[in-house]
Amino acid sequence: MDLRQSGMGKAPAYSLDGGRSLHRWLRDMRQHHPVQREPLTRVWTLYRYRDIIQATADPATFSSELWRYLPGDRGDDALTAGNLTAMDPPRHRLVRDLVSRSFTARAVGALRPRIAAIAAELIGAVADRGEMDVVADLSDPLPVLVIGELLGLPMADRELLSDWARRLLSFDKGDLTDEVVRKRVADTQQELLDYLRAHCRRRRTKPQDDLISRLIQAEVDGQRLTEDEVVNFANLLLLAGHVTTTLLLANIVLTLDEHPAAAAEARADRGLIPGLIEETLRYRPVIVSNMRVTTRAVTVGTEQLPAGQFVSLSFISGNRDEQYFTDPDRFDIHRDARKHLGFGHGIHYCLGAPLARLELGIALEAMFDRFSRIEVTGAPVDYYDTPGVAGPRSLRIAF
Ligand code: HEM
Repeated sequence: MDLRQSGMGKAPAYSLDGGRSLHRWLRDMRQHHPVQREPLTRVWTLYRYRDIIQATADPATFSSELWRYLPGDRGDDALTAGNLTAMDPPRHRLVRDLVSRSFTARAVGALRPRIAAIAAELIGAVADRGEMDVVADLSDPLPVLVIGELLGLPMADRELLSDWARRLLSFDKGDLTDEVVRKRVADTQQELLDYLRAHCRRRRTKPQDDLISRLIQAEVDGQRLTEDEVVNFANLLLLAGHVTTTLLLANIVLTLDEHPAAAAEARADRGLIPGLIEETLRYRPVIVSNMRVTTRAVTVGTEQLPAGQFVSLSFISGNRDEQYFTDPDRFDIHRDARKHLGFGHGIHYCLGAPLARLELGIALEAMFDRFSRIEVTGAPVDYYDTPGVAGPRSLRIAF
């Protein structure tokens, strides 16, 4: 039997053709194999929107504490404390309550002038060239600098921060099963953690008006974060808030290049930019999928999943589910796309969503203001090969 025809077989890589083959394959999976176990990895994948919502809305059955089920890694050491993404309730609720106040739209709104200044500086540095790499020149440095600002890290350390982020994010160029590559990543991670710990200790003795100082002082139900939790949370922000924002801005520029009428509309009416950002999170999400593990037997669709099963939630597939989005393969900046899965769903819904929306909106406005035309030139686009993320590694434009 031809596995491709039956809808099974291996998913085509996003990098093959910018997701076109992958989306055809995913449509087939939603129709014929919506809850499917991959024979080699034994990981189940949920392809339909409604099944993904079932899993994300039920963290007691679909746990994020994957480390409990992996051999050797107990996950409760100094490295994983404070890592919200790998935590279940009740600890998740407590830590999320402690940090979420600093991430409301209102709280991050105070960063608007600084973000605008950083974006203007980055764009100003290339404006005379008439061409740029959106990733290297703008969308990669911007989020690192913004998170540095949020955490109160010295601006003088920006090159250091960018370098650590670059070294940690060169993930798809090395094989993580290779001992040398693993050691290099672990050493880089340790350098960054040591740096954040030193910063955290300085703020403990001399608090300032920044997120680290607020986290050290924050208290909910008489509980505070430990030093390990503050340090690891800062580290998580630098990772979770960086490549995601970098790739989404690049995905927006790429998608607008393919849809010139939408680009012209948003340029003429800046009030359309928030809808454009949400629609890109649906149409071309950055986080393609995320994992959970079942803590007990559960039925999803027509399938019975036993306890202890790894389950991948295909956000990219749910976002094109024809049961939930009319004409899902059409990019439409006027649709109400807010129920997309680009920021996840449920208790782990992206904490940084208000900050990401603010950064992306400011960056886009700055590009529209400064460049009278934007045209992608570097075909074919060089996409990441990593299965978990979708977006260009570099994106050359002329303006
Ligand atoms: C969680 C996407 C920007 C911090 C998530 C999740 C997704 C996501 C899909 C859910 C993961 C899950 O369900 O397991 C994105 C995208 C971004 C973005 C597409 C940019 C366009 C940011 C920024 C920050 C951030 C700027 C902070 C500076 C976090 C944190 C979590 C998270 C801390 C974990 C929340 C929890 O587990 O309770 N993000 N993110 N993200 N994101 Fe984002």
